[in-house]
Amino acid sequence: MQAYHESFARVYNLRWGGWAKSIAPHLEKFFSAFSGISEQPTLLDLCCGTGQLALHFLQRGFRVTGIDLSAAMLRYARENCNEFLESGLAQFIHADATAFTLEEPVRFAISTYDALNHLADLEALKKCLQCVHQALMDEGVFIFDLNTRLGLRRWATLRIEEDPKLTLMQSGLWDEAGGKAWVRIWGFLRSEDGRYDRFEETVFNTAFHLADVSRVLRETGWHRWHFSRLDDLTTPLEDPEQEARVFVVAYKD
Ligand SMILES: C[S@@+](CC[C@H](N)C(=O)[O-])C[C@H]1O[C@@H](n2cnc3c(N)ncnc32)[C@H](O)[C@@H]1O
Repeated sequence: MQAYHESFARVYNLRWGGWAKSIAPHLEKFFSAFSGISEQPTLLDLCCGTGQLALHFLQRGFRVTGIDLSAAMLRYARENCNEFLESGLAQFIHADATAFTLEEPVRFAISTYDALNHLADLEALKKCLQCVHQALMDEGVFIFDLNTRLGLRRWATLRIEEDPKLTLMQSGLWDEAGGKAWVRIWGFLRSEDGRYDRFEETVFNTAFHLADVSRVLRETGWHRWHFSRLDDLTTPLEDPEQEARVFVVAYKD
């Protein structure tokens, strides 16, 4: 379980929410190439965090369901997507990515910024892929990114950042035998009244061998998939383990 806590959710919203926003145009371009999405397209944003990616798609006419295990992250997601809540175009659900169902199937699903590396093991990834498979329409597509082993080895560093608003420290560990990277993130964030609030979060990423990811995709009924780079989601990578991060594009049918 890696639901982010309240104090960290506030920092995430300020400091990391922008990454999802920056990758959104690539995902949108990929989705727009599909025929039959002239009617209102539907999107599941799994592990949606603070909702910046959901907002991008809501503003472009998608109906979005966000799921996250952190009540604190969901509060920011609802705040960021506030204008779309009342109409029902946006809904945010508190649920585990390994055990959820949707009332209506969706056309597209995404899960970004290493969210699925937060799952504890292959069994959890398998359950998650099963849930997404069930949540999609037959012609549905799921795109998720993963830090590879190569990428996670780089977590073993100490970083300190400081600006007038935020002091941020990150210390990472990489466990080669266990295939897990850990990072402790802590620091101080200035409030509007000038005081500094302390935050702290420790998260892990599981390093999935991409051959194992392929195996669990096959076992959970996905029809075809490939590993790609964000800037070219249609082209399969020849040697994805040589990348620090890959985008998995999986087709239900
Ligand atoms: C790195 S953040 C990514 C957030 C967002 N997708 C983005 O691109 O900014 C990972 C998110 O996954 C959520 N999370 C972790 N484990 C989860 C689980 N088992 N089920 C649902 N959400 C989970 C955390 O609460 C957090 O919001």
